[in-house]
Amino acid sequence: MKGRHLMQGFADVHDPVMRDRIVELLRPALSHPGAVFVDGTLGLAGHSIAMLNACPEARLIGIDRDPDAHQVAEQRLGALMERATLVHAVYDELPDVLADLGVARVDAILLDLGLSSLQIDRTERGFAYRVDAPLDMRMNPTEGPTAADVLNTYPAKDLSNILKWYGEERFADRIARAIVAGREDAPFDTSGRLVEVISGAIPAAARHTGGHPAKRTFQALRIEVNRELVALEGVLPAAVDALAVGGRVAVLSYHSLEDRLVKRTFAKGATDRAPRDLPVVPEELKADLRLLTRGAERPDAEEIATNPRAASARLRVAERIKEAA
Ligand SMILES: C[S@@+](CC[C@H](N)C(=O)[O-])C[C@H]1O[C@@H](n2cnc3c(N)ncnc32)[C@H](O)[C@@H]1O
Repeated sequence: MKGRHLMQGFADVHDPVMRDRIVELLRPALSHPGAVFVDGTLGLAGHSIAMLNACPEARLIGIDRDPDAHQVAEQRLGALMERATLVHAVYDELPDVLADLGVARVDAILLDLGLSSLQIDRTERGFAYRVDAPLDMRMNPTEGPTAADVLNTYPAKDLSNILKWYGEERFADRIARAIVAGREDAPFDTSGRLVEVISGAIPAAARHTGGHPAKRTFQALRIEVNRELVALEGVLPAAVDALAVGGRVAVLSYHSLEDRLVKRTFAKGATDRAPRDLPVVPEELKADLRLLTRGAERPDAEEIATNPRAASARLRVAERIKEAA
């Protein structure tokens, strides 16, 4: 089976990040017959399996833009596939996905942002900076520009902005200039040469601080190639709209820009829209959401020790408390 083949050589399947806490927070919304759970980032289906096992009445709509994820998820779901529908889509297409399936409202939605271990471990996908591989980085390898396209065509200013914003790279200007100079010799096509150029652009004294010198540039390229923040900005209001009253949405983010978008959307939904001096808030101006996490929750030290990827995770969960006005 192809799913099994994809799993070979990738023994390191961690428990899904903050699995038990996510189950605890979403389960109350999924305990009635016919409850619908949307996993917008199906990946290896770790969270989905935990949710379906904890909520025997619920069915799953599992969305992922990466066709490889579907094969592995289907295999890992096994008999649970009887309660699952897997859809190949970008998660901001949620309204269309639900309309195609004839589903009007859902009861819980999870987004676990970023890359799966399948994507990181399969070096030919080009996400890893420690091995020399083609500069692809597309989560859906059949669509859109690759990391090489970005590196070889974007103006220096755009490259620098991407590195600054998405990578929080303090040497963004220097690296962008070095990339533009490098591509005049020959276009970039593999990660090895890019890593060399990045290392050469960073002052020697800073090369050994703050992790691998290419880490922030690779993160920035990945976010740009997959238009990750654009998709997140689109899906958050769509997710709130899709929730039934009493439905819950959980987002696990790994980057401060992602978490800021989630925080803002949830805070706005959880705030009455009436002018401050109005003694009674009319129903239509009352908040649509209730926050179920105080600030962002973080994994505990034990989880971070066994899964370093969890270290930057932040979880925010909200509940829909009324219909839109
Ligand atoms: C961190 S992994 C999810 C892991 C999953 N929660 C599990 O337990 O196995 C993120 C997954 O979401 C997918 N993904 C990321 N952004 C996406 C988007 N905008 N639309 C659809 N899928 C996306 C990736 O392809 C990847 O498979």
